Amino acid sequence: MAEVVTVTLNSGAKMPVIGFGLAADDIIKAKGSAPVDHIKASVLTAIQVGYRAFDTARIYLTEGVLGESLKEAFEKGLVSRQEVFVTSKLWVTDCYSQDVIPALRKSLEILHLDYLDLFLIHWPLALKKTTTFPILRPDDVVAIDIQGVWRAMESCVELGLAKAIGVSNFSCKKISDILAFAKIPPAVNQVEMHPVWQQKKLREYCESMNIHVSAWSPLGGPGNSWGSNYALENPMIKEISTKHDKSSAQVALRWGIENGVSVITKSFNPIRISHNFEVFDWKLDEEDHKKISSIKQRPPGLIRNFFVDPINGPFKTAQELWDDDI
Ligand SMILES: NC(=O)c1ccc[n+]([C@@H]2O[C@H](COP(=O)([O-])OP(=O)(O)OC[C@H]3O[C@@H](n4cnc5c(N)ncnc54)[C@H](OP(=O)(O)O)[C@@H]3O)[C@@H](O)[C@H]2O)c1
Repeated sequence: MAEVVTVTLNSGAKMPVIGFGLAADDIIKAKGSAPVDHIKASVLTAIQVGYRAFDTARIYLTEGVLGESLKEAFEKGLVSRQEVFVTSKLWVTDCYSQDVIPALRKSLEILHLDYLDLFLIHWPLALKKTTTFPILRPDDVVAIDIQGVWRAMESCVELGLAKAIGVSNFSCKKISDILAFAKIPPAVNQVEMHPVWQQKKLREYCESMNIHVSAWSPLGGPGNSWGSNYALENPMIKEISTKHDKSSAQVALRWGIENGVSVITKSFNPIRISHNFEVFDWKLDEEDHKKISSIKQRPPGLIRNFFVDPINGPFKTAQELWDDDI
């Protein structure tokens, strides 16, 4: 079994640098139940390959199948609870101070777990309770009471329901707003990051504040409504992958890891699950890093448009949602 490579969070917890994502576009769009057997087989394959971090969220509708898969893995003795790192997220309709702890308790119940290793605020905003995501009405997005919500996140740690807390899709400014009053600083900011959206400014800021960056869509999310092939098809990435006799996906993952972030990649294909984990016995060189740094950046569609409403709502432009980070 491959060694589990980890980073140490500001909470003191160790988080594996490669995580297994459980957001599947078709499941979210259909709002239907997850194809349980297929996903369960994928999670068990991932555990056998060596993945120890699992990333889900209430909105993904995969907390249940992840919980079932882990229960089976624990019962079979494949891994113990202490050996896995489980992340879930507070969905935006629960981004109200009084709803945070009940939402986490619900996630734990669905996951059959006593605690999460990491609990994240999914987006820096709230949706009205009546919102039927993904179909948003113009004024469904409302401002978040970040101080109240963060206090409740801190209570989750104090109650032993989460070992660490953090945020997702937060700009430098929105993180600094939290740091101004936090008793427990965010341990992680999970954001989209890959070779065509490198998040240099946000990474530098988070590093200076001792906040770990975790990359979602580290391959650029090919095949997802929010993603594209731009990263994997980039000529520079292809050239570097040929040079090292690796795939574009492996180069993108290795590049993320060598930049100090953890990469949360998703595949429900056994060959790709294994292939994506083969990123620990080789390295990119300085020249590769220089070339990748020079890749022209293109702000992804999800970041530009999601939760932005030019007339109603708190974020009228992508710049208002992302402050100066895009
Ligand atoms: N915090 C947030 O707001 C947020 C947003 C989005 C995602 N996430 C998290 O991040 C995880 C990953 O996101 P993502 O799915 O966009 O990331 P990704 O890993 O960049 O892309 C996954 C897509 O690439 C395909 N793929 C996987 N390995 C491949 C390979 N070696 N070569 C070619 N294609 C490959 C997968 O298809 P197959 O399954 O067919 O292999 C899937 O369609 C999610 O599951 C979720 O946990 C978080």
